[in-house]
Amino acid sequence: MARIRSLLLLSGAVALASRLSWRMGWQCARSAAAHKRSRGIIQHASDAIISTDEHQTILQANPSAATMFGTTVQTMEGSPLQQFIPRDQRLSNEPAGTRYFGNTGIRLRMKGRRASDYAVTGLKASGQYFPLEGSISSLAENGHRIYTIILRDITERKQVQEQLEQSYSQLRELSAALQTIREEERKHIARELHDDLGQLLATLRVDLALLQQQHSNDVAARKLQAGMDELLMSAITSLRRIASNLRPRALDEGGLYFALESLRQEFVARYGIACTLDANEEDLILDDAYSTAIFRIAQEALTNITRHAEARKVLLSLYRTDGLLQITIHDDGRGIAEKDMDKASSFGLIGMRERVWALHGDIAIVSDGGTRIMIRLPLPPPQENAA
Ligand SMILES: Nc1ncnc2c1ncn2[C@@H]1O[C@H](COP(=O)(O)OP(=O)(O)OP(=O)(O)O)[C@@H](O)[C@H]1O
Ligand SMILES: [Mg+2]
Repeated sequence: MARIRSLLLLSGAVALASRLSWRMGWQCARSAAAHKRSRGIIQHASDAIISTDEHQTILQANPSAATMFGTTVQTMEGSPLQQFIPRDQRLSNEPAGTRYFGNTGIRLRMKGRRASDYAVTGLKASGQYFPLEGSISSLAENGHRIYTIILRDITERKQVQEQLEQSYSQLRELSAALQTIREEERKHIARELHDDLGQLLATLRVDLALLQQQHSNDVAARKLQAGMDELLMSAITSLRRIASNLRPRALDEGGLYFALESLRQEFVARYGIACTLDANEEDLILDDAYSTAIFRIAQEALTNITRHAEARKVLLSLYRTDGLLQITIHDDGRGIAEKDMDKASSFGLIGMRERVWALHGDIAIVSDGGTRIMIRLPLPPPQENAA
């Protein structure tokens, strides 16, 4: 009886073992297929994929990685990662406490198995350095850490980026140069109008006055002379207005403070909007480039207020602190919307920004129960800053 029971137990155990081994075999086959599949994916991926052990020895590299570094998969596998991503080429100005991927210099910003982006410099077999971007992930395998690095050569993108930055800065220089030329031309035309045409009209008026003094009894002639005098007077007024719009004389004769003060007075008289100029005359003794830029910025801001703000009160304040000129233009109108600041066909705010940037300053425009334009301009030391 005991024999039969042990025979039965044995046959049960054999059946269980064979079932288990069939299952394990099936699982093995399944994991082998998965392994083969993932190897295939890695082999055919267009991104460079490298996996290393915790000592940064390359365990596996795909053909894209070999092509990228100008070498072969065989050469890469078993080599130190340092050979392709040298530590001394790591990025400068990294934040303190940055963890590194072993000794490679690759910045690790990921935790656990999460992949994250990084940027490093690669070294081709030919000795050429090139910029790389990618991500690292790590996982534990049999108690060891395996790192998988996916890399992308960003040489072309960097070049395009550099070209873009270069052309952007050229555009800025061009815009600053055009602004200067425009100001010079305006100044020139305003002076010609005032000194040349203005003088001529003034002389004509004096001559006319002499003619009028010759007590002519001809009523028609006297009427004509009076009419001529009126016309001459309005020609002189128009000419002054045109010249002043081109270039306020106060900018050249009295300085920025007086130019802003006359701008303020004209604004109040013309639009009936209260406007305060809060500034010291001494703070605004600046050279022509600064005076002109600040005047044009204030002029554009006031024009915008009349056109868009529906404001009742405006404050224009300019103060000098520690080598900086702080300019604030605030109105209590409807405020400026975010989308208004980048309107395609609007150039006022763009021009304002360009003028500030050309003088290495910064500008912020915010909506705070109205519109507030805040500008900080670093000023040159006083000796270079003769008015
Ligand atoms: N003080 C303000 N209050 C409210 N909205 C403003 C103010 N200033 C500007 N805006 C908004 O910002 C937009 C852009 O202003 P910007 O000066 O660049 O262009 P613009 O005045 O429309 O045209 P222009 O090119 O003739 O100056 C304006 O169209 C307006 O909608
Ligand atoms: Mg405008």
